[in-house]
Amino acid sequence: MIKKAILPVAGLGTRFLPASKSIPKEMVTVVDRPAIEYVVKEAVAAGIEQIILVTHASKASIENYFDRNFELETTLESKKKFDLLKEITEILPSHISVVSVRQPQPLGLGHAVLCAKDIVGDDAFAVLLPDVLVKDASEENDLARMIHRFEASNAAQIMVEAVPDHLVDQYGIVDVEASPVEGESIVMQGIVEKPAVGTAPSNLSVVGRYILPAKIMQLLEKTPRGAGNEIQLTDAIAMLQHAEAVEAYRMKGQTFDCGSKIGYLKAVLHYGLEHPKLGVAFKDLIKELNI
Ligand code: G1P
Repeated sequence: MIKKAILPVAGLGTRFLPASKSIPKEMVTVVDRPAIEYVVKEAVAAGIEQIILVTHASKASIENYFDRNFELETTLESKKKFDLLKEITEILPSHISVVSVRQPQPLGLGHAVLCAKDIVGDDAFAVLLPDVLVKDASEENDLARMIHRFEASNAAQIMVEAVPDHLVDQYGIVDVEASPVEGESIVMQGIVEKPAVGTAPSNLSVVGRYILPAKIMQLLEKTPRGAGNEIQLTDAIAMLQHAEAVEAYRMKGQTFDCGSKIGYLKAVLHYGLEHPKLGVAFKDLIKELNI
């Protein structure tokens, strides 16, 4: 059973400056809650019970957000603001634990995952990159489907989606014999980090959701620096794929890249329109703008 998820949150978020100058990019709000909450809830909805933040000294507000705040709780209680009290104490179900480990140097995504080696131990685990929000209306979300597929096939699962050909150089890209249908997995022939346009093996890009066996940690220890002079998770997955089957899972849901400003605005629109309390008023507001 996959119960642990690594969320690498140590990145400085240069794509989101100036907002990320003094707050973590993961704490920028999408409607009424920080972006990271959506990612953590996606993991929890898929059955994850332990969230492992790989973090940086400047990111303590992420840990604080998932911790209790006794002073605030006491104040809300004494003012009888019980709805708000419930809201801040029930961000996550009580069986979920959030732990953190530091990434002491910015050596890349592969290195960030490796920092959680001792916490994951011998267990297979999920990795969720917090820049990308995955919205999936179905009862069983994409991550849950990947976990079930991993449990059935024992093959690592890499979530992918199709991107326009001119954008392949921004992503990890998988090599597959045929594009899987949405919601299904196919064994991949290879994976490459940010190939130059015109050289990519497909247009199926790595979204930032992975189910990986514990042995990926030993491979990460041996992974030399790759694209961007960083230790790339993609390169360790390529090594794993030479030794055993690794599958590309084609997602059904929709992605929002909150690492980019326009992707963030798109997320605010979508999540705002579907917000249980604000959605109707937000829709009216957009209609009033008449654009
Ligand atoms: C990382 C991964 C890349 C993946 C991307 C998804 O790149 O290395 O394979 O496609 O996330 O957002 P980054 O965006 O951190 O450069």
